[in-house]
Amino acid sequence: MYVLRFLKEFVNHPAAIGAVAPSSRHLARKVAGSAGVGDASVVIEFGPGTGVITAAILELLRPDALFFALEINPEFVEITRKRFPHVTVHNDSAANARKYLEEAGVDSCQCIVSGLPWTTFDNQLQDTLLNTVVDVLAPGGRFATYTYLQSTVLPSGIRFRKKLCAAFGDLGITRPVWRNVPPAVVYYAQK
Ligand SMILES: C[S@@+](CC[C@H](N)C(=O)[O-])C[C@H]1O[C@@H](n2cnc3c(N)ncnc32)[C@H](O)[C@@H]1O
Repeated sequence: MYVLRFLKEFVNHPAAIGAVAPSSRHLARKVAGSAGVGDASVVIEFGPGTGVITAAILELLRPDALFFALEINPEFVEITRKRFPHVTVHNDSAANARKYLEEAGVDSCQCIVSGLPWTTFDNQLQDTLLNTVVDVLAPGGRFATYTYLQSTVLPSGIRFRKKLCAAFGDLGITRPVWRNVPPAVVYYAQK
């Protein structure tokens, strides 16, 4: 679903999209599950794209939980809002997560599920966004994101993993999710 629209956005904004196709349901469920969505009262999704991971989050989300997403691409915002009219999707950078938490009347979240293309980001943007993750997560809060297998050996992928280890101390890595194009692993950590 939405494969062609996703590909079109990738052609126009390759670094910000970072993938030629949306994640598979298998990868989406692995990321949402690794983030501990079902235990959290405040959940934020970074970079929902066309909403594959959003759907996996909604399968696990507590009915009383506060949940919103931050997506920088207006086309994807429109698609995700249309698919999930009851989900709040802000058209803004994930770097501004604190502002939306405060607007919602809370000062931290217990869970961040990220679909951001970390390995296409430069050093500074990786730092900015990772600092936001650490800033808005409550103590004990969980973070999960994915990266394509081939990106784990690229300099930007190695740099990102080191930053995650430095930020969280302990980093979990799942087995590869083969049923995704391309195959990916999920990184997960607890503050
Ligand atoms: C690899 S795509 C993943 C989309 C979707 N989560 C999935 O798994 O199919 C990366 C997404 O992150 C979004 N994105 C990139 N930089 C962002 C930022 N700074 N803040 C919020 N979203 C961003 C892109 O527009 C795109 O939707």
